[in-house]
Amino acid sequence: MTEKVTAAITAVGGYVPEYRLTNKELETMVETNDEWIRTRTGIEERRIQKGEGLALSDMIVPAVLELCKKRGMEPSEIDCLIVGTITGDYPFPSTANVVCDKIGAKNAWGFDLAAACSGFLYGLTTGAALIESGRYKKIVVVGADKMSSIIDYTDRNTCIIFGDGGGAVLLEPNFDGFGVLDSVLKSDGSGRKYLKTEAGGSLLPTSLETVQKKQHFVYQEGAAVYKYAVKGMADAVHELMERNHLTADDIAWLVPHQANIRIIESTAHRANIPMDKVMVNINKYGNTTAGTLPLCLWDYESKLKKGDLIILAAFGGGFTWGATLVRW
Ligand code: COA
Repeated sequence: MTEKVTAAITAVGGYVPEYRLTNKELETMVETNDEWIRTRTGIEERRIQKGEGLALSDMIVPAVLELCKKRGMEPSEIDCLIVGTITGDYPFPSTANVVCDKIGAKNAWGFDLAAACSGFLYGLTTGAALIESGRYKKIVVVGADKMSSIIDYTDRNTCIIFGDGGGAVLLEPNFDGFGVLDSVLKSDGSGRKYLKTEAGGSLLPTSLETVQKKQHFVYQEGAAVYKYAVKGMADAVHELMERNHLTADDIAWLVPHQANIRIIESTAHRANIPMDKVMVNINKYGNTTAGTLPLCLWDYESKLKKGDLIILAAFGGGFTWGATLVRW
């Protein structure tokens, strides 16, 4: 029994849309092939949210409702809801506000957190700090993206990678040492030139010209991002393990951001963690940006045992990256 309060993860929810965009279908859209996509990225299919009037919040609502049901609580009990995303329903208001309205979380405040693929990881530390402050009892941290809304389906550099979906966790105070234990979080804004959406912000407001130039879509220099991602994730995991005096044997699961199977493998390799202790679902969902980490927890929940030490790691646009240690 410790006196210190930590933020335990007490429930998980997730959601992916029905529609499966396969590599075969992508072959009909851009100059690519199933074999290249599988071997270079590990992706077989991704989910796409189809249908008029549907947005990010419509994927988050079922995930949060699932979480509430599992925990046996009402949405009105949520104190704060944090949404890690870069594809909110609107530039403003925040998607957190929309979700709280749709689920009846009348007593919650909330906000969106823009850290691209690290959105959930940043949100987890932020939410944990709110619990540790002693002021809040139930914080929901969401990571979700509707990447299909900002992807150019004529650009083979990006359209083969990304998908839609996300998940959520509930954080609650714990006095037995469970939950979020430590985080190594980093950022380097000079990386923004490699991965960004050029237009739609105050630097380059949306105009006919920006749309014609396709500047409202994701731009990525894949090879450069790849290089930084491999180093960033591996270094963050190493620093986290070293300062917590952990070896690979102590770690039950590595939960890496799902951007490319080769990045996942090399992060695991650098940390000496065998692939059978690494959560992987990139084959089914592709890169859902802030959605990948909670979707992994959602998919692997039945395999997690109380007390397991897990490391979540991410790298994304910004650049933003880091690693977080959690006792399940
Ligand atoms: N289908 C077929 N060929 C393709 C292709 C596709 N979809 N995309 C690129 N190619 C070609 C390129 O044109 C290039 O051909 P060339 O050698 O004749 O010029 C060749 O394949 C290699 O391209 P390259 O960009 O070097 O490939 P890569 O091995 O780096 O893989 C990514 C590309 C995008 C899959 C990879 O760089 C990546 O995963 N990057 C990081 C993504 C990431 O982590 N994002 C950030 C977090 S969200």
